[in-house]
Amino acid sequence: MTTTLITGANKGLGFETARRLVEAGHTVYLGCRDAERGRRAAERLGARLVLLDVTDDASVAAAAKTVEADGGLDVLVNNAGIEPRNPDNGVPGAAELTAELMRTTFDTNVFGVVRVLHAFLPLLLASPAPVVVNVSSGLASLTRVSTPDTPAHAYPGLAYPASKTAVNMLTVQYAKAFPGLRINAVEPGYTATDLNGRTGTQTVEEGAEIIVRMAQVGPDGPTGGYFDASGPLPW
Ligand SMILES: NC(=O)c1ccc[n+]([C@@H]2O[C@H](COP(=O)([O-])OP(=O)(O)OC[C@H]3O[C@@H](n4cnc5c(N)ncnc54)[C@H](OP(=O)(O)O)[C@@H]3O)[C@@H](O)[C@H]2O)c1
Repeated sequence: MTTTLITGANKGLGFETARRLVEAGHTVYLGCRDAERGRRAAERLGARLVLLDVTDDASVAAAAKTVEADGGLDVLVNNAGIEPRNPDNGVPGAAELTAELMRTTFDTNVFGVVRVLHAFLPLLLASPAPVVVNVSSGLASLTRVSTPDTPAHAYPGLAYPASKTAVNMLTVQYAKAFPGLRINAVEPGYTATDLNGRTGTQTVEEGAEIIVRMAQVGPDGPTGGYFDASGPLPW
């Protein structure tokens, strides 16, 4: 029996990933920061709820204790994420970037990943086949964002892509540090969720595809990589 924790799973890509992994037979914990939203999602999916705010040390430590007491963890999907938006749903550009905006974004997208990984690492390392999926973005790719005449090049934001580039670096370095772990960064693709005011062009079913696939890699699967549904991506 595989036990899986997905952070930020009460809606969007995390919820769809949870739905598919429950279907595949995993015991799934939804790591949610809001008890009511989490309870409703868990009930709909037949999943377990663990309260978890990735920006809060005490909350993450308590969640790790709960999961440990219930028997441990095999798969961690670091999915919780935010993308700063202006009131008109536009993305704040270079002239609008402040240290505070950068800090808030990194607190969830980067420090959140480190906080959760650090707390759950002992549980993962006790698993016979531990797996981590870091939900990154195509905007993490320095190659893509610096290639003219591409959608990634046209994206004006700084905090969000910088945070996801940091997640990619964490992925590479954790993979080297823990060779027994399969840890990969994934790009779901531009998906209609609340994150982007539902402007994404893919459905959550399409977006969750690579997350679900990488959550199910075996001990011979890739590690330290960066993938979308069609294969490896340029860093
Ligand atoms: N949608 C896209 O086009 C796209 C593309 C590339 C990558 N991604 C990545 O995919 C992941 C999922 O995004 P999504 O599109 O599904 O967005 P979403 O629908 O807005 O879902 C984000 C989830 O993260 C949770 N969350 C935010 N801050 C949290 C915190 N501090 N602690 C715990 N949970 C927190 C939210 O919970 P609440 O409901 O409580 O706010 C929500 O469940 C993100 O990492 C995002 O960067 C998305």
